[in-house]
Amino acid sequence: MALLAVSDLHVRHERNKEFTEGLRPESDEDWLIVAGDVGETAGGVVETMRMLRERFAEVVWVPGNHELWTPAKDPVRLRGLARYTYLVEEMRALGVHTPEDPYPVWQGPRGPVVVAPLFVLYDHTFRPEGARTKEEALEIAYASGVICTDEYLLHPDPYPSRDAWCRARLEYTRPRLEAVDPELPTVLVNHFPLVREPTRVLRYPQFAQWCGTEATADWHTRYRALAVVYGHLHIPRTIEVDGVPHVEVSLGYPREWQRRPHPPAVPRRILP
Ligand SMILES: [Fe+2]
Ligand SMILES: [Fe+2]
Repeated sequence: MALLAVSDLHVRHERNKEFTEGLRPESDEDWLIVAGDVGETAGGVVETMRMLRERFAEVVWVPGNHELWTPAKDPVRLRGLARYTYLVEEMRALGVHTPEDPYPVWQGPRGPVVVAPLFVLYDHTFRPEGARTKEEALEIAYASGVICTDEYLLHPDPYPSRDAWCRARLEYTRPRLEAVDPELPTVLVNHFPLVREPTRVLRYPQFAQWCGTEATADWHTRYRALAVVYGHLHIPRTIEVDGVPHVEVSLGYPREWQRRPHPPAVPRRILP
């Protein structure tokens, strides 16, 4: 049995939808981690997750920023926390593990391992050079014209800002990770990278401020991670930080993956 992972399926794109429909487990016992950005409409996300849930023994989901958008054409008009809560309830109805549920324990080779789906957003602390505050970081981004669409579509309500929502998520998540049996290793799953390193290769460094938070920089060692799974950057690769692999498991947009010489290597095998 294997622990597999994928993210950034973005099924709004027809080629990605076809690719997703072709995803199959290697065995009936395989688990699938889906690390966010499944799609842009609530209905599209739920239908895709339903299909994957029917195929894999267990499915673990975390939201990406795109799931939390409220796009003009989506009949589901919920915003912010209400939208997240709605998606969590839909996932639970499918039997999919969410960041609001007890962390499932994977019992495969190298198990038992606690698989921890996290939702910790970003807070503008991955700042561009020269910026000392969130305001200065945003100023640099706006001046350059490189602005994440989240600024227009990812509403933080009822929080005053996305970084306030991030702080609330950090406060919610830390005690839950502290409460994990200290004998057990973990696989930490988050849409955004938990460390800054992977964002160093972004074409536009000012975009990193929408990609994570410095507050999670030591979580992979503090919480005994065998691996960290993330997406969002659309730069599939593995980097080691303190000896822990951080695995970017994105499919990405068709214009990104179709241009590469090899077909997408997802889902990625995380364990064993
Ligand atoms: Fe994405
Ligand atoms: Fe994303």
